[in-house]
Amino acid sequence: MTHARIEIAPSILSSNFARLGEEVHLVEQAGADVIHVDVMDGHFVPNISIGIPVVASLRKATRLPLDVHLMIEQPEEYIEEFVHAGATRVLVHQEATVHLDRALAMIREYGAEAGAVINPATPVAMLSEVLDKLDTVLVMSVNPGFGGQKFIPGALEKIRQLNQWRSRYNANFRIEVDGGVDLDNIAELARAGANTFVAGTSIFHTADPAGATRQLRKLASEALSQKV
Ligand code: DX5
Ligand code: ZN
Repeated sequence: MTHARIEIAPSILSSNFARLGEEVHLVEQAGADVIHVDVMDGHFVPNISIGIPVVASLRKATRLPLDVHLMIEQPEEYIEEFVHAGATRVLVHQEATVHLDRALAMIREYGAEAGAVINPATPVAMLSEVLDKLDTVLVMSVNPGFGGQKFIPGALEKIRQLNQWRSRYNANFRIEVDGGVDLDNIAELARAGANTFVAGTSIFHTADPAGATRQLRKLASEALSQKV
């Protein structure tokens, strides 16, 4: 895996659910790399969204990897079903399980890529013992539960730290950022070391979601090429 790679991951949470297939095709045609799917249970986060049947339908509607962000309690209970429904990547919150090591191992055993997510109040250090079990670290740059929130700047320093860990420990995880990502901050996030950029509002709540997808990629790629 090369970490210079940029992935734009539209979050369907901000899309029109009544036209989900069309929304996904639109961003797919525009060069989106991953579809980010937010699963909320009304307990771990104060909101309810979608679940396993929607992942299964999406799997039939697109060839893109499905990045399934589980904002649910006891995620271990549902990992197998999400993978069978078609999740390419399963991301569990560090705060949602006392058995993060086991949950990550389970995701890989069922055949998906494993990711751990940290909330804004959780330090990167909470992941130090599971680095070898991670394909992705997702840094939340808002408190999870809702689209359209303001980016919390502390996420930048966490991304820089993770980027340093990657070189220091020769680790291979991708760094993903989720919440308030837009045209104004994506370049700085790319320079800090982020690879996968989740974007809901800044794609689907614009007049031109395809154009926004392309523009986000352009800014992230340019930031990296200027860096070297
Ligand atoms: C928030 C979700 C995000 C959300 C991001 O809990 O995890 O994926 O869709 O939305 P924006 O990009 O609008 O902040
Ligand atoms: Zn998310």
